[in-house]
Amino acid sequence: MADDVTDTSSDASAAPAAPAQSVAADAEAVTDAAAPVADSTGPAQTPTEESVSTAQAPAGESATTEASATTAEEPASTAEAPAEPAEPAPAEPAKPAPAEPVEPAKPAQAKPARQDWPIGLTVLGYGGDYNPEQWPMATRLEDIELMREAGVNIVSLAIFAWASIEPREGRYEWAWLDNIMDRLAAAGIKVALATATASPPPWLTMKHPEILPRTAEGVVLGQGGRQSYAPSSTVYRDYAVKMAKAMAERYAKHPALALWHIDNEIGCHVPHDFSESAVRGFRTWLRRKYRTIERLNEAWGTAFWSQRYGAFKDVLPPMAAPTYANPSQQLDFARYSSDTLLEHYRKLRDAVRPITPDVPATTNFMVSLNTKWMDYFRWAQEVDLVATDHYTIAADPEREIDLALAADMTRGVAGGKRWILMEHSSAAVNWQPHNRAKGPGEMLRNSLAHVARGADSVMFFQFRASKAGAEKFHSALVPHAGRESAIWRESVRLGEVLTSLAPVAGSTVRAKVALVFDYQAWWATELDSHPSEDVSYGDRIRALYRDLWYRGITVDVLPPGGDLSGYDLVLVPTLYLVTDEDAANIASAAENGATVAITYFSGIVDENDQIRLGGYPGAFRDLLGVRTDEFFPLLATEQVTLDDGTRADVWTERIETTTAEVVRSFTDGPLPGGPAITRNTVGQGAAWYVATRQDEAGTTALMDALLAESGVQPEAQVPRGVEAVRRRSEDGTGFLFLLNHTEEQAEVPANGTDLVTGAAVDGSVTLAAGAIAVVQEP
Ligand code: GAL
Repeated sequence: MADDVTDTSSDASAAPAAPAQSVAADAEAVTDAAAPVADSTGPAQTPTEESVSTAQAPAGESATTEASATTAEEPASTAEAPAEPAEPAPAEPAKPAPAEPVEPAKPAQAKPARQDWPIGLTVLGYGGDYNPEQWPMATRLEDIELMREAGVNIVSLAIFAWASIEPREGRYEWAWLDNIMDRLAAAGIKVALATATASPPPWLTMKHPEILPRTAEGVVLGQGGRQSYAPSSTVYRDYAVKMAKAMAERYAKHPALALWHIDNEIGCHVPHDFSESAVRGFRTWLRRKYRTIERLNEAWGTAFWSQRYGAFKDVLPPMAAPTYANPSQQLDFARYSSDTLLEHYRKLRDAVRPITPDVPATTNFMVSLNTKWMDYFRWAQEVDLVATDHYTIAADPEREIDLALAADMTRGVAGGKRWILMEHSSAAVNWQPHNRAKGPGEMLRNSLAHVARGADSVMFFQFRASKAGAEKFHSALVPHAGRESAIWRESVRLGEVLTSLAPVAGSTVRAKVALVFDYQAWWATELDSHPSEDVSYGDRIRALYRDLWYRGITVDVLPPGGDLSGYDLVLVPTLYLVTDEDAANIASAAENGATVAITYFSGIVDENDQIRLGGYPGAFRDLLGVRTDEFFPLLATEQVTLDDGTRADVWTERIETTTAEVVRSFTDGPLPGGPAITRNTVGQGAAWYVATRQDEAGTTALMDALLAESGVQPEAQVPRGVEAVRRRSEDGTGFLFLLNHTEEQAEVPANGTDLVTGAAVDGSVTLAAGAIAVVQEP
């Protein structure tokens, strides 16, 4: 639910004056002064479970009884744990120390901990979130039947069930969950079991209001929605760990348990939190990173604006301030926040792991250009398999391209391995301005587009549409209309199609084009007080990707430190922030024969957001053979013309070529006659620089040249609007996915067997408007 994010940190410059928020001094104890107001004697607000047999023990129930799982009334720990493993913080030295700051090494590429596919499905997974706690027993029984009818083989259970399991502190009601776990197991349906910690129950936030998150302006975000917890709060963490352990102990031996679904969309609503525990956590994180306050001062450039700190205890997160907060501080706070959310995942995973050592764990990422604040390349190191959620934007006429990009990004985060689509929607969502249902066949095309790009499971939010609550207008596999509905017929058909695609499971995608993507560069690019507010990190990613999508050319998404060998074309859009090491990695791709194309506002700063002096584009100056002395961003209403007649906007810069040749020049605008696109021969390859934001025709012309030079070919000769992607199994068998997103019949050259229809494909396949085919190639 990407665009429901409460970005509590952004645009501090526009925010009102700093709040009258009292921030506790460094390392002091948390004030637990808020008196508990929980109604510990009132009636239990539990769902009525008369129809559920509470006597029935779950299959394979562990020795844990309800009594032993009861949360003890001990005070929760008040010490705020750091987000990273403890190291002693050195005393402040009298003099500044010159050493380099210590920063955890950035992973070169995601490497999920397990090499195999650990959820026990040999076919493609099909299912979704299932929330039986919202329904009476009769509906639950019907649900199991409907799941069987549609071919559902995996569901996510108990995601928001904490208050249904523990409606009052220490009072556990397991019977309903035992019952549904047993019934799912009996039906052969696997369970991705949640830790039930995604939203604290009301008694917990009433008892411990200090666990609530806070915005940069000091506003406390209360209970009544969801995710109302500060990820840095160890008070919350202790309760959540206790809940996760209780779940693990209860279902450790249960035959339905296939996968841990840790929390849910961690960071979705509260990517940045400014609570008192976050203040302490940030200081601890900074101490670990910099060791001395002078190193922090150096990294943050605090000689500017009288910001020099004398001690870590004086440092705050970038709260709302009279004007621009220190950009390096903002960047470190974004890093701290991502690390803290990941730490929340790790703590919960480590709570269940010793109890269920053979059950893999994951959490649903939100990989796309709509979710910015979690560095999923780092996160991927901590999950046993990558899972993601993706929702199309109904108002986007090219939403299939956004979907494809998100899916390719997910495969990149997964290090090229297969992954799980943990949630998408069968039709409308509830959180966009206008929630239109999907068109005929769109759910199938969306599902197969994810599979084509490496997903081995297709899951939905949710199985049955809710009748109450904020998401009651969100679609599901079983809509409000019930079985007599287009969606249900499409749900059944999707199950049949996924069954026919069983041979695809385990195959992978490998492209010849690499697109370099980096969360931290994204954060830094979009900080305030930059040359132009119109430079958006995702803009050129989308434009270049879109051009390739229409050509049927597959793209792998890699971090800047990823293994770029084996790629003929390497695209580097707007890599404003880059480390020396990563810049060298990109340069060596060109040295080794790739065509590298870098777009404007790249290479400008180091990892501390400090300018690389000596001329732009800093880190890439030598690689590109150009030197820029000034930027001339365009006004919102301005456009410029290039000497091939194409147009551009947003950005121009004054370039002097050193070793590069000029490919295109500006004919007007602030820099008539100046270079707009350059090419530098480097080793066995070349490095292109694109110094402006090209229009569609210009982007196409650029891509024609890049593809001609690099020799990259499409997966298939497709008409515009027909998506083509190939998965390949270890034995070399190809699976060519063809998805016709147009309203015209299309003809695509192919040979083999269409797995969906079973028909032989001899020379070409005909796709009706909106139709799909998956050709297993000889
Ligand atoms: C996701 C979330 C689900 C549901 C869905 C609605 O953010 O994980 O619980 O809210 O969005 O689109």
